[in-house]
Amino acid sequence: LLAPQAIFGAGRPNSQGFDLSDEGTLARIENARSCAIPDAEPLTVSAPTGTRVPVVNPANRELVAHVLEADAATVARAIEDARIWDAPAAERAAVLRRAADLYEAEFGPIFATLAREAGKILPDAVGELREAVDFLRYYAAEGEAATNAPRGIITAISPWNFPLAIFTGQIAAALMAGNAVLAKPAEQTPLIAAIAVRLLHQAGVPASALQLLPGQGGTVGAALTSDARIKGVVFTGSTETAQIIARAMADHMEPGTPLIAETGGLNAMIVDSTALPEQAVRDIVASSFRSAGQRCSALRCLYVQEDIAPHLIAMIKGAMDELRVGDPWSLATDVGPVIDAEAQDGIEGYTDANAGRILHRVWAPKQGHYIAPVLLKVSGIKDMDREVFGPVLHVATFRADQLERVIADINARGYGLTFGLHTRIDSRVQEVSEAIHAGNIYVNRNQIGAVVGSQPFGGEGLSGTGPKAGGPLYLARFFAPEPVPAGT
Ligand code: SER
Repeated sequence: LLAPQAIFGAGRPNSQGFDLSDEGTLARIENARSCAIPDAEPLTVSAPTGTRVPVVNPANRELVAHVLEADAATVARAIEDARIWDAPAAERAAVLRRAADLYEAEFGPIFATLAREAGKILPDAVGELREAVDFLRYYAAEGEAATNAPRGIITAISPWNFPLAIFTGQIAAALMAGNAVLAKPAEQTPLIAAIAVRLLHQAGVPASALQLLPGQGGTVGAALTSDARIKGVVFTGSTETAQIIARAMADHMEPGTPLIAETGGLNAMIVDSTALPEQAVRDIVASSFRSAGQRCSALRCLYVQEDIAPHLIAMIKGAMDELRVGDPWSLATDVGPVIDAEAQDGIEGYTDANAGRILHRVWAPKQGHYIAPVLLKVSGIKDMDREVFGPVLHVATFRADQLERVIADINARGYGLTFGLHTRIDSRVQEVSEAIHAGNIYVNRNQIGAVVGSQPFGGEGLSGTGPKAGGPLYLARFFAPEPVPAGT
């Protein structure tokens, strides 16, 4: 039906000029494939201590490198050593821009690490580097004229699914506001985080203003979210973890210490009978299966109007059959592995439990943590008991007179991250966009890959606190509030 390259647009140059159809660029990427990925350790002012653990490639379970995971004493020393970055805002902006240049220059090792540590396919690695660089330049531009005071020490806890882009975005905003940052990367992806922090230090961020603390949530995360000296936490990950962090902060920190959280979603798309089927199918497949479904923005529950459902679902199956699941390094690959054994077991457990609902499933390699993209029939979003963070799409049908009910059911789940709509009725775009509770609404396109600066990203309800990342309100949250004049 649709070639995978057509679906995901591989080979198209992006704004940073990483043209995956260019021979020279490809040769440099190919060279990076065999480069040794350095071990990671806490990048702290005082010498770190901890436990050395292996980092494993999710595609083939091979050892990538080791990481020294910080112990409680290392975290305690890092909090003591942290100092706000008191350079003028224009200087901080210049340093972040220099870091952006260094990130771009280092694209080979960065792509190699994203592929081997996080299982990223090359077009996703390109997109991720572009987004990281965009965050650095965007917050630099937003903050270079600011005169406000920083909050103090900010904890940044980032996810493995965008281990460079979200990691960098959180840090860039906190640093641009002059704070000291203690960054805890996801347990699965410390190596790319260490590369990023080394580049930020090389660009001129002082060591005391940015310390990296790889390690376990129960040790490093717990310590960094339950200390009164921390003046703000920025977090991206699951809704459940955000709730644990909020409780720890409430017990230990000053009231009013901000938690800026981007969390989970049960993202839906509605396709009505006026939609263009070819366009809708391309966007459904990209939204559900790109990045192996491991995006918080990914489509989880598709509603198709009954009249076109048999035709559209047949086309989705055809497009799924075209997906190539496998080696992240091959340019022909559309879907790489999921992040680790635990993720694989969880998703397989879910699809096994829902085996009676399977409409279609494609092939995936048996070695490595691969999940075959799968389509499940449901009666509606109510049938889904949780967010399944993988290449699993649920599909339901609705009659024209049930549209309001569908919107009410989607809203009733309490999440509000992304939403997609395919229709050619102008008034419906207006009505549905107003009725749906979601941070990011996409019309007649896919619902992933928000662009820094032009599509600020973030949710409401169970999906996050706002403000949206990559938008004009984000940076303000990292400055101390204006003092209230005495006597008011
Ligand atoms: N920002 C990503 C996207 O838009 C999700 O984390 O896909």
